[in-house]
Amino acid sequence: MDKNVTYAIACDQAAYDLKQEVMKHLDERGVKYIDYGTYSSDSVDYPEYAHKACEAIQKGECQRGILICGTGLGMSISANKHKGIRAACVSDTFSAAMCRAHNDANVLCFGARVVGRGLAFALVDAYLDTPFEGGRHQRRVDMMMDFEK
Ligand code: RB5
Repeated sequence: MDKNVTYAIACDQAAYDLKQEVMKHLDERGVKYIDYGTYSSDSVDYPEYAHKACEAIQKGECQRGILICGTGLGMSISANKHKGIRAACVSDTFSAAMCRAHNDANVLCFGARVVGRGLAFALVDAYLDTPFEGGRHQRRVDMMMDFEK
């Protein structure tokens, strides 16, 4: 795990309870994070919270993010509209690790209506504990990012 990374975490109402659990898990692991909301189960619009977290990454307040909504899809689609963001929506631990190893994903997304608490923790752990491999994968990440120009 990279001790120098602060994670931006955010969710919508569908994932509020799971986000609270994930934050406890991060606390137990000694992971630094900033919670950008939402702060209750009241209905909100997920793009607003994806934006708060992605903006924090763009500004350098945080280096990576964890976004959770009902499916993870709305959060990942919203996040990927932000310059410099590579968000991966996953529901298996292999993909959670590989999105770091090969794609250098700087945002992990998953769905509270898709994964349970145990799998959510396993996804977070796989994401946190897997470094980017660089090398030929860096070239491909650079190619992806060139699409933003
Ligand atoms: C909210 O009902 C739901 O649409 C949202 O959490 C998410 O799944 C969207 O992609």
